[in-house]
Amino acid sequence: MKLLDGKKVSEDIKNEIAAEVQKMKDNGEKVPHLAAVIVGNDGASLTYVGSKVKACERVGFESTLIKMPNTTSETELLKKIKELNEDDTIDGFIVQLPLPKQIDTQEVLMAIDPSKDVDGFHPENFGKMALDMSTFIPATPFGILELLERYGVETQGKHTVVIGRSHIVGRPMSILMGRKGFPGNSTVTLTHSYTKNISQITTQADIIITALGVPNYLKAEMVKDDAVVIDVGITRVADETTEKGYRITGDVDFDLVSKKASFITPVPGGVGPMTIAMLLKNTLLAREQKRLKLK
Ligand code: GUN
Repeated sequence: MKLLDGKKVSEDIKNEIAAEVQKMKDNGEKVPHLAAVIVGNDGASLTYVGSKVKACERVGFESTLIKMPNTTSETELLKKIKELNEDDTIDGFIVQLPLPKQIDTQEVLMAIDPSKDVDGFHPENFGKMALDMSTFIPATPFGILELLERYGVETQGKHTVVIGRSHIVGRPMSILMGRKGFPGNSTVTLTHSYTKNISQITTQADIIITALGVPNYLKAEMVKDDAVVIDVGITRVADETTEKGYRITGDVDFDLVSKKASFITPVPGGVGPMTIAMLLKNTLLAREQKRLKLK
């Protein structure tokens, strides 16, 4: 078994990005600027957004964190998005999901200027991704592709089973693994809550990507020998023995599944840090595209 070490690879990527930023500085160019909007005070979301902002500092980007109360109306959030769209100093921004119930997520995502949509969630960018056009690829799927590529994991002709069809991970992942090229050229099965006999499907998978948020869901008997296992789950599970009172648990029963897998991502330290690194990469791309447009 080989660990797909997202912590290490994400550090490599951040070093590469930091070197690019240094070049920009040396040339007297503006450095990339990422803004993140968070509505409400969900602990996990605040932690993720905090990590994104910290990562910006680490690579030399500018960053802006906008915190809005849980009672924010859709109109107020749309007004903030309009401001960010029109603010020339900001190259890209994200609205952290999930949003409070009174806000229609799709309306919000559609209001983001596609050229600043570094999450790749706007329908224009999602459509471009599905058509193999150059665009922002959602950060978590992008991070998984990057891990597969950097470890040289063969995907061509393999059967990839994606568990979970969220717009953020499962759906785009299923499209990307089936597209032409590497990583890709896979035969993809997208499974979800209505899928019957899921073990029959997962035991035929060469590559399993779980994005479910159910701790220890994927058991060893659901995985064939030498499968590649990518765990996107990051659920907080109460644990009094830790300082924070919880620990982060993936969708995969790691201790037993890792004995069968050829490659596997740990949680934490697998897909999570890759998501942040690829958000930075998208922001660098947004800056670069803006610079070319202004030339
Ligand atoms: N919530 C969970 N993952 C993500 C992500 O990649 N982007 C945003 N904006 N919200 C999220």
